Amino acid sequence: MVLLAAAVCNKSGKVLVSRQFVEMTRARIEGLLAAFPKLMNSGKQHTFVETDSVRYVYQALEQLFVVLITTKASNILEDLETLRLFARVVPEYGRSLDESEIQENSFQIIFAFDEIVALGYRESVNLAQINTFIQMDSHEEKVAIALRETQEREAKQAMREKQKEFDRMRKEKQRHGGNPYSNGIGGGSISSASSSSSMITSSTPTEPAPSSYSAPKRPTGTGMKLLGKSKDVNQFVDQLTSEGERVESMPSAAARKSAVAKVAAIPEINKESVHTKIEEKIVCVSSRTGALENLEINGTLFLYLSDSSNDNIAIKLCDNKQAQFTTNPSIDKKLFQSQSIIAPRDKNKPFPLKQQVGVVRWRLQTTDESVMPLTINCWPNVTSSGCDVNIEYELQATNLELEDVVISIPLPGGVGGPRVSQCDGDYNYDSRRNLLEWTMPVIDESNAIGTVEFSIAGNEDDFFPVSVSFVSKKSFFDISAVGVKSADGKSLKFSTETVLYPERYDIV
Ligand SMILES: *[C@@H]1O[C@H](CO)[C@@H](O)[C@H](O)[C@H]1NC(C)=O
Ligand SMILES: *[C@@H]1O[C@H](CO)[C@@H](O)[C@H](O)[C@H]1NC(C)=O
Repeated sequence: MVLLAAAVCNKSGKVLVSRQFVEMTRARIEGLLAAFPKLMNSGKQHTFVETDSVRYVYQALEQLFVVLITTKASNILEDLETLRLFARVVPEYGRSLDESEIQENSFQIIFAFDEIVALGYRESVNLAQINTFIQMDSHEEKVAIALRETQEREAKQAMREKQKEFDRMRKEKQRHGGNPYSNGIGGGSISSASSSSSMITSSTPTEPAPSSYSAPKRPTGTGMKLLGKSKDVNQFVDQLTSEGERVESMPSAAARKSAVAKVAAIPEINKESVHTKIEEKIVCVSSRTGALENLEINGTLFLYLSDSSNDNIAIKLCDNKQAQFTTNPSIDKKLFQSQSIIAPRDKNKPFPLKQQVGVVRWRLQTTDESVMPLTINCWPNVTSSGCDVNIEYELQATNLELEDVVISIPLPGGVGGPRVSQCDGDYNYDSRRNLLEWTMPVIDESNAIGTVEFSIAGNEDDFFPVSVSFVSKKSFFDISAVGVKSADGKSLKFSTETVLYPERYDIV
């Protein structure tokens, strides 16, 4: 299913909460939801209604409605099943089915919605799992708070000791008849002395504790319940307002899913009766010092035939010596090895019709850094006032055009947002998940190197793992189908599509 939005509204159509899972303008979602009460048939408990463009699936919850807006191509049975899950989450996290309570707890509800859905595709979770995720996060939050309290106690203790030390020194000086405030002991003022005390700065307790504590980095992004009614919420709300409808900020895991979702969402290209699809997936794990731990790229050539007159064709692939190929057992292996031609081994067992068949696979695994399509260098530099972080990407595979690039950098929690001093491309600070998302619509030869620089309180380890997501419509290996011939040797028209994306691309 592709879920566009989930909302809770009252019987007269007033929207209490709405979460959009795909990019859409505020005007569009408001328009869609405003149209809903006019369309629905209020006699039924839960049912659906369709317009020319979308489907509304809805369920009454006392005086309210839970409404899902999906595409019309979406499977209605799945939609209804998903609706039931949403309908159970609303009273659970909204506390009651009272309008003001729902609005009060709208963030909890939105976060629970997010656990159900990642970018328009339903996650396979049930209510128990949602509860577990939220409890896990609450536990993490408690641990973080306990840790902070310990640090604060230690810091207070350290300050008391420092104070005693100053007093002792001052007395010592007075006893020796010297000026008690000379020798730069900061006039006995704790605040000026504390800034040079490594013990105090290292635990940074002098900052006012936010009333709701954001837990430390959470790159897995199951983020939940970390916003109480606090300044974080206000920040988040400000962010909502300032960004209009572009509030959706993706965690790294979701960003990865988004790459996958985008792959699935690439507009249907005009398919000929012979269609080839090249799909390559990357797993790349590199250490922060730049050593490549593992790079793996798996590719597959899929064939889709829709016309039986073409079931005995031969496809010529460009020659490529870099990758290690494996052919489907039904393919003439010798012909492929000698001439890069893909044809059925047995003319009496032609290619199947109307199904996607993987005919050739290729693979590369290496620890040679020079093969990495995109390198990321992250340099945190701890200074007396915090940490200056300088991150550089470099496109090494300049034959590629990486689209929708998101480089997600975890940030320490509870210290406010980063101060970005320089940035190629764009960035988005996700205060809920403590992430800086550095985005580029495209990275290609023309912007093969780029940097971002920011400062924030923290230390070297806070900024890893950096995660990267992108999609490319070019093959890493430049593999393509160069021609298709029928059994009697005539050249045939064919269509082709290529997609390359990372399943995991991390600097750890
Ligand atoms: C590539 O294929 C191998 C063998 O099937 C598998 O173990 C590995 O996880 C795959 N890697 C990627 C990046 O898909
Ligand atoms: C780190 O910061 C210090 C102090 O600001 C500066 O002198 C030094 O050059 C910086 N190092 C790097 C690698 O940027």
